[in-house]
Amino acid sequence: GLSCAEKRGALIVLEGLDRSGKSSQCASLVSFLNKQGISAEAWRFPDRSTAIGSMISSYLSSSADLDDCTVHLLFSANRWEKRSVMEAKLKEGTTLVVDRYSYSGVAFSAAKGLDLNWCKAPDQGLLAADLVLYLNIPPEVAAARGGYGGERYEKMDFQLEVAKYYKKLQDSTWQTIDATKSIEEVQEDIKNASLRIIAECSEGQELLRLWG
Ligand code: ADP
Ligand code: TYD
Ligand code: MG
Repeated sequence: GLSCAEKRGALIVLEGLDRSGKSSQCASLVSFLNKQGISAEAWRFPDRSTAIGSMISSYLSSSADLDDCTVHLLFSANRWEKRSVMEAKLKEGTTLVVDRYSYSGVAFSAAKGLDLNWCKAPDQGLLAADLVLYLNIPPEVAAARGGYGGERYEKMDFQLEVAKYYKKLQDSTWQTIDATKSIEEVQEDIKNASLRIIAECSEGQELLRLWG
């Protein structure tokens, strides 16, 4: 691991199927933390604002077709291009609340039939999350939330396959959150888990690297 002289921030990642509530919960968590006087920023992957991100965005909206392996490597490159900024922020004490990360990268590509270890390899050496909050929801409940928007992966049978691969990635940094509860109840669970990991990280817990 990497040693940190100063109190560092925590890398908190929200994962889950499409429409599990990640984006809304990330936004609420960051505003809650900031109100508590804790330095925190909302991040998301894919980061569609970069050149690589715009290729990913065209692929997701189906305006561009790309080979499965190629798009997998683009998603990974999109995280690598942000790695040094993320590390600097964490070391200066800012907590990052990230909407999807490498765990999505592996689960979505493996669900297409790509080899699990091949999918993990390009993300090896990226920062690992201190805490992965997995918003657990049956795909049919998620789909009923306003319906899917029509992006490439927003189909029930594919989402079921993705959930299988998420389960294979779970380790001691994961906490499963029941995402079928109300927005307020889910937020309460997320706040409690986040405050605990932020305290642990500020006590000198070293930065972690993928994969374990
Ligand atoms: P994601 O980023 O995981 O796709 P969003 O945060 O965009 O999910 O939420 C998808 C939709 O579901 C939004 O319309 C949101 O308001 C709604 N939603 C989020 N959490 C809940 C919840 N706990 N109960 C009911 N509806 C929810
Ligand atoms: P996102 O913009 O978070 O969509 P949503 O808010 O609807 O959940 O993610 C877009 C899609 O990209 C989503 O279906 C998951 C997929 N994805 C991958 O396939 N690989 C990755 O590495 C990441 C980060 C996301
Ligand atoms: Mg979202």
